[in-house]
Amino acid sequence: MKKIQIINGPNLNLLGKREPTVYGNTSFEAYLDKLRGLYPHCEIFYYQSNIEGELINKIHEVGFDFDGIVLNAGAYTHTSVALHDAIKAIETPVVEVHISNVHTREAFRHVSLISAACKGVILGFGMNSYRLALEAFQ
Ligand code: DQA
Repeated sequence: MKKIQIINGPNLNLLGKREPTVYGNTSFEAYLDKLRGLYPHCEIFYYQSNIEGELINKIHEVGFDFDGIVLNAGAYTHTSVALHDAIKAIETPVVEVHISNVHTREAFRHVSLISAACKGVILGFGMNSYRLALEAFQ
């Protein structure tokens, strides 16, 4: 069984309630059930934190024996050198994910400090972005 860790950063605990016109009406927990059904041969672990250091700790924890990390770092994407360094420090490949197409939004969302450390980036496909990232690890 492949072990995949999904990590969601700040404010993504509010998916389903937060700006539904941008992020949709589905909670991540409901979507996760669907994902686990689609990939029964993967063990999919889920972690969410609003705290940058906790996201880094989780990356370190899983980053040497999991098969993949799907990371939506939320707003830390645009600010965090520390997350970039954490991704560089581990062995497990990381796919960066965004629900929205950040390039159609405010200019401050057009820059990602983590993309260069990641294996690839998937963005703009709504919650489906997570499924497409999982597909990258099959
Ligand atoms: C996001 C895009 C970020 O700019 C934003 O800060 C988020 C969510 C997305 O999934 O579209 O929190 O990562």
